[in-house]
Amino acid sequence: MVMAYNGLQREVDIRTAIATLGLMKVLAISGSLRVASINSALLRAAARLSPPNMEVRLFRNVGGLPLFNPDLEPKMPSQVSAFHAEVAASDALLIASPEYAHGVTGTIKNALDWLVSFEPFIHKPVAVLNASPRAHHADAALRETLKTMSAAIVEEASASISLLGAHLTEDGMVQDPTISRAIRNSLLALHNAVALRQSEQGPSFPLP
Ligand SMILES: Cc1cc2nc3c(=O)[nH]c(=O)nc-3n(C[C@H](O)[C@H](O)[C@H](O)COP(=O)(O)O)c2cc1C
Repeated sequence: MVMAYNGLQREVDIRTAIATLGLMKVLAISGSLRVASINSALLRAAARLSPPNMEVRLFRNVGGLPLFNPDLEPKMPSQVSAFHAEVAASDALLIASPEYAHGVTGTIKNALDWLVSFEPFIHKPVAVLNASPRAHHADAALRETLKTMSAAIVEEASASISLLGAHLTEDGMVQDPTISRAIRNSLLALHNAVALRQSEQGPSFPLP
């Protein structure tokens, strides 16, 4: 007899997966270099609001990556190697990036270009936060790029959080009940999706 995989069973699977999982590492990447960037502030707020068994770390050197050039790949620049190491060590990525002239920013595209031929990025779970619902061109373009790179976009963890013009700092985002709930919901959805996925796949490294 074939048992239906219903909502209750999925809930049980998620709980079992979470119980057996250690600390989940999420690397957050902002597509803006501005000091007062709402995208970077959103990711820093996410780091503060993450559930106990999840660590969200902001990648700080996105502006220090050299411009992508395949000729540099045989002797990888140290900044890129450090970026690769952080991506490889993470269970998931969390991206928030602005729209510039109806496209993604050069900053986020450059970072992603360095991951195109990077094997550990393939099937990496990625959640996309959009801080400005009107920025739909960049959101669509970013998703298209991620899909082309074989990332696993976690839709249930991806959200549009209306921050443009809200004049909220990172502290303000953490304190605002609506914004902080949206961030928490997104992180919980990411956590559950990654936990379930890892339990289905088994460990991706050889056990001692
Ligand atoms: C060069 C430039 C181009 C922009 N183009 C767009 C655009 O096409 N669509 C849009 O919605 N906002 C656009 N904006 C507004 C930014 O998306 C907005 O300022 C956003 O807050 C920037 O993100 P940040 O605060 O994380 O730096 C543009 C801003 C700049 C500086």
